Amino acid sequence: MATPELRHMLRDDDLNHEEQKQVLELAIKFHKDRFYHRPFAGPQGIAVIFDKPSTRTRSSFSIGVAELGGYPLVIDKSGSQLGRGEPVADTARVLDRMAYGVVWRTFGQDRVEEMAKYSTHPVVNALTDEFHPCQILADFQTIAEHRGGVDNLKNQTIAYLGDAANNMANSYLLGGAVAGMNVRVAGPYGYLPDPQIVADAEAIAAENGGSILVTTDPKEAVAGADCVFTDTWVSMGEEAEYAVRSKPFWDYQVNADLMAQAKDDAIFQHCLPAYRGKEVTAEVIDGPQSVVWDEAGNRLHAQKALLTWLAGKARGDESLLA
Ligand code: CP
Ligand code: NVA
Repeated sequence: MATPELRHMLRDDDLNHEEQKQVLELAIKFHKDRFYHRPFAGPQGIAVIFDKPSTRTRSSFSIGVAELGGYPLVIDKSGSQLGRGEPVADTARVLDRMAYGVVWRTFGQDRVEEMAKYSTHPVVNALTDEFHPCQILADFQTIAEHRGGVDNLKNQTIAYLGDAANNMANSYLLGGAVAGMNVRVAGPYGYLPDPQIVADAEAIAAENGGSILVTTDPKEAVAGADCVFTDTWVSMGEEAEYAVRSKPFWDYQVNADLMAQAKDDAIFQHCLPAYRGKEVTAEVIDGPQSVVWDEAGNRLHAQKALLTWLAGKARGDESLLA
């Protein structure tokens, strides 16, 4: 037995390089054997809370927790007191007495941090305005599976195009830096990442042998890349800005011409939901370089790996880390 250690996954750099590798190796094992570990047999309950809509995150955590032997208690904002203004700290202390972990999709990052502060069980960010770390684990699992394993993630060049100030851009910056990748992010002026996140990513990249490039030039970002990513131009919570946001991103649309600047065997990923004809053309997302269905399926395996790893740490049970 190792010393029990309470760990949360609130942003991508909550795992270091070796830990991220452990989780991704575990994810690949779960992909091969859906019932590889069942740490929540009992069943132990995991609260899975949604303050924003979801298809993939909801289904992958619901089915994933059940496959881990647990009971997923799925709570929607509209059906909870949290949605009527009950303080996060109060909700956290109630759930902590019942559930063995909390997974939460919400707005501000401060909310998941507050939940973690009052929890004695792991808290997982299932998307905030700032980060989407579970998605990045699935995306990197997908690269590893298409590139011969987790050891080959280091030095992969990934390019993200579009709204470079959103949660996906931030998570590629931090998660890619942890992996030791060369991370390139391109978007128009006004939609570039927070300098603090870029600075954090640069510091982590330097430790792991990777690099960070933030640019307004989409071709510079994509040139010779191994994997190209994009995301919606209008994230959840930004619907009122739809008209304004439909203008600045056209140069960053991932189309066949732009994909042609990447490596010949480059793959394309998108966290989904996708808007064909906006951030990506149908030709690309439905074409031979697209691995978006593998990526979506890997949400299940990557999150089961993450929950199992966090449980292993919390219990001091090293058998759950591999
Ligand atoms: N990619 C993703 O998180 O999808 P959902 O919003 O459907 O959960
Ligand atoms: N940036 C998008 C990601 C959706 C999974 C959003 O926050 O809506």
